[in-house]
Amino acid sequence: MCGIVAYVGYRKAQPILIEGLKRLEYRGYDSAGVVVFHRNGLVVRKSPGRISALESLLDDETAAGTCGLAHTRWATHGAPNMVNAHPHLDGSGRIAVVHNGIIENYRSLKKYLEQKGVTFRSETDTEVLAQLIGHFYKGNIEEAVRKALADVRGTFGIAVMSSEEPDKIVAARKGSPLIVGVGDGEFIVASDAAAIIQHTTQVFHLNDGEMVTVWSDGFRTTTFDNVPVAKSVSELEFTLEEIELAGHEHFMSKEIFEQPDALTNCLRGRLDMNEGRVVLGGIARFARELVHARRLIITGCGTAWHAALVGEYLFEDLARVPTEVEYASEFRYRNPVLDEGTVVIVVSQSGETADTLAAAREAKEKGALVLGIVNVVGSTIARETDAGVYLHVGPEIGVASTKAYVGQVTVLTMMALFLGRRKLLSQTETMEYLRELSAIPEKVRRITAQSDQIREVANEFKSAENWLYLGRGYNYPTALEGALKLKEISYIHAEGMPAAEMKHGPIALINEGMPVVFIATRNSQYEKVISNIEEVRARGGRVIAVATEGDAQIRDYAERVFYVPDTPEPLQPLLSVVPLQLLAYHAAVLRGCNVDKPRNLAKSVTVE
Ligand code: G6P
Repeated sequence: MCGIVAYVGYRKAQPILIEGLKRLEYRGYDSAGVVVFHRNGLVVRKSPGRISALESLLDDETAAGTCGLAHTRWATHGAPNMVNAHPHLDGSGRIAVVHNGIIENYRSLKKYLEQKGVTFRSETDTEVLAQLIGHFYKGNIEEAVRKALADVRGTFGIAVMSSEEPDKIVAARKGSPLIVGVGDGEFIVASDAAAIIQHTTQVFHLNDGEMVTVWSDGFRTTTFDNVPVAKSVSELEFTLEEIELAGHEHFMSKEIFEQPDALTNCLRGRLDMNEGRVVLGGIARFARELVHARRLIITGCGTAWHAALVGEYLFEDLARVPTEVEYASEFRYRNPVLDEGTVVIVVSQSGETADTLAAAREAKEKGALVLGIVNVVGSTIARETDAGVYLHVGPEIGVASTKAYVGQVTVLTMMALFLGRRKLLSQTETMEYLRELSAIPEKVRRITAQSDQIREVANEFKSAENWLYLGRGYNYPTALEGALKLKEISYIHAEGMPAAEMKHGPIALINEGMPVVFIATRNSQYEKVISNIEEVRARGGRVIAVATEGDAQIRDYAERVFYVPDTPEPLQPLLSVVPLQLLAYHAAVLRGCNVDKPRNLAKSVTVE
């Protein structure tokens, strides 16, 4: 949700800023802009659309400075055009601001400034912030930012510079992530470490309510109230190679195909085959609380919410703990009842999603034990939860989540077994699950090897504009996730639902030729799903099935079949989703869509 990069040091800022923006483009791609200090003034270039459009505007003027800011936008206030693109300047042209987040009281601040004679050029909340900082500016940018922030309500990660203090950047955070890369005689401030890692692996994070002033050979961190804050610098845990395409056409395909390795990393060191137990160091000290938990609530957004739904089946089935799943955006405002014995688990790839973070804070506020299932090491949710389990699936860049989803489901499976073993599962039963779990990465590889056949099916059905995805039990969340993958990257309308619910309304939609995807693996509800398939066929629907290898009978019911290897029912979500990821990927590519940067979406949603 908007990407920020800021540089101050001894090198030319522009290439570092542009390279950084490209690494952050997944966060938003409505417009892009850059500002550098050159010859006593701020040189600004901005453009609607992608960073490539901005690049065509760069020239000697922008190439010169050694201090600058850059931004890639996911529009919240005002259309994604040139005027609304960041950076925004104050009226005097001395102050430049890039911003990620929402200034909630921007209307009243704007009115106040207009009464003072300020005129506005854009419709954005960010320009209001730039003008407000300009209003307070008396030669000390840090002080002006501090004064402005005292009047601001909302969420923000900002970076600010002044042409009168050209070797200095001030950045501040409330709700939107900011990381500071510490180089030798240079600093890079960015929304995500991906924009930093090429230059340094030494970083520190800003917490909410903190600001930093960086200059080429030093920095100062304080609270918004000017209380000094000490920061310890840590080492980034991923490599540059992990965030590059490595020969793939898209990050999404790279991430689908690297799932076997990602899952191997996720499982590494966590399955004790000799003792028949799961080793989760991050949450081990809370094992007692988990065993005595009377209820679990799992919360998240989007794909993470679908993983949470699988978690509900897993925890109730394998550990017999009553479990509820909540949309983080609803949970946070509902004044939820969190009585003693409730443990809240928050699931988030980025660890920065605004609603999920707020849900975690709400649960903590009410005294619940809050555990995180997070991919990005050191992210806000990872830091603010009581304990947690990292996915260790590596950076995910494609906007549509794939490997993080299977990673989340894998961690939830391990947590359910961690708990189940302590409550009701025998050592032998647990060992059997662990053996099967350890075989999952290789089974995923067998599915990705069918990519070409799946592409043929995608080609055959790619023009259909309405699809249904149906499954029962463990396959129901997979139906939701399969439908989400298709709609978010190919713009085909797709709905997922429990197969039995279809006859309570959605069956009215089925007409001649409508594609209906059934997740019909061999499990306790197989026969019932076959009946649902019959109901669809009777109305002219064209059935595509995900089925278990060796199931020849399914061919009598489904026009097209994607086979997945056999595995126990609780582990089936880890396999059944993979052909659906590939189906969505191929459909989107064949329809000419931008798979990694689908319209209107962003990878990390740091606004409500
Ligand atoms: C956005 C992304 C989704 C993701 C959701 C939650 O909507 O486009 O792919 O599932 O945010 O993100 P998180 O980082 O919290 O898992």
